[in-house]
Amino acid sequence: MKQILVTGGTGYIGSHTAVELQRAGYEVIIVDNLSNSSVDVLDGIEKISGIRPVFEQFDLVEKDKVDAFFAKYPNIQAIIHFAASKAVGESVEKPLLYYRNNLVSLINLLECQLKYGVANIVFSSSCTVYGQPDHLPVTEDTPRKDAESPYGNTKRVNEDILHDTIAANPQLKGIALRYFNPVGAHPSALIGELPLGIPANLVPFITQTAAGLRSELKIFGDDYDTVDGSAVRDYINVVDLAKAHVVAVSRLLGNKNKAGYEIFNLGTGNGVSVLEAVHAFEKATGVKLNYKIVGRRAGDIEKIWADTTLANQELGWKAEKGLEETLLSAWEWEKRVRGIN
Ligand code: NAD
Ligand code: UD1
Repeated sequence: MKQILVTGGTGYIGSHTAVELQRAGYEVIIVDNLSNSSVDVLDGIEKISGIRPVFEQFDLVEKDKVDAFFAKYPNIQAIIHFAASKAVGESVEKPLLYYRNNLVSLINLLECQLKYGVANIVFSSSCTVYGQPDHLPVTEDTPRKDAESPYGNTKRVNEDILHDTIAANPQLKGIALRYFNPVGAHPSALIGELPLGIPANLVPFITQTAAGLRSELKIFGDDYDTVDGSAVRDYINVVDLAKAHVVAVSRLLGNKNKAGYEIFNLGTGNGVSVLEAVHAFEKATGVKLNYKIVGRRAGDIEKIWADTTLANQELGWKAEKGLEETLLSAWEWEKRVRGIN
């Protein structure tokens, strides 16, 4: 069985990807420092797939630990690098924490790839690198814009680090996946997104409001130039997203990549407004949401959605799940976590 290192594998997207990798016949080895996830996630993965992934708990910023890890596991074929700090607001307050964690982790991995001969890496990037694009939908050729936050900047710089390192070392191959807005949970409701504290993202805020943890959802702005005035995003189901990682790994292992470093947008191709998302949630679940319109959130862009042609054609991957099904899965997960029937 081919071994795949999944960094950040007890996190939200990493755990769903671990399951899909196992289903595809890969052996998953997770590294996570549990800074933003719980070891119990391994139980969820095992319940779904019947296989408990190998788990090593350490911080990827610590170079000696990363080195010792690769010495211990000499047969790793590819890395999917999810591990990162990801809270936009926190990154503005603590930029050095974000630059250290997100940049040093990738540098440590790449140095060990060169030392131990691990050729392949898939990297979690974000549509945040596009800022507010001049033209929609965004293709991979759309120019990147200056980042709005230190978090966003770490994605941009990490893409550059990958690009430059692969250019200098042709034995390495990499794929950067630019996620649009990942939402939802595994249909089993055994794994999902578990934000610490008050959620900053829309869907966890919706489900926590529906569950009674929050009194009302604030909709940030209704004066954008969009279908109903609220901001538009491309919400991609997390299981669909996870499957794209399996395809990306297989592409690298099968030498099907067309360049040493490739970039793909991962979205649905559909723009959905905040109000449309709220109404889709209500329709899918039958739960009425208490919401109110407030002013715009600082740093928000008006609208973005993906042109998915490249991922569709080159990866043979397409988002399959609809928005209502996805929001229902998020609700089923929230209910399970909160013990609601
Ligand atoms: P998450 O916080 O749920 O998962 C990240 C995991 O990495 C956590 O389990 C955390 O404990 C671990 N981690 C962080 N720093 C580490 C370190 N130094 N060493 C070891 N483990 C470490 O986040 P997620 O939503 O699953 O995001 C995964 C990746 O996708 C991140 O790189 C994120 O920036 C990127 N991304 C996420 C979104 C999103 O909306 N969720 C959108 C675009 C890109
Ligand atoms: C945010 C980050 C982005 C990151 C992405 C995924 C910002 C500015 N951007 O994107 O860098 O890659 O998360 O983690 O934080 N909304 C409400 N009420 C809420 C919460 C959100 O109306 O309580 C709206 C937002 O204004 C936005 C949409 O819902 O229009 C989606 O918000 P969110 O889930 O936070 O994602 P992004 O802002 O797209």
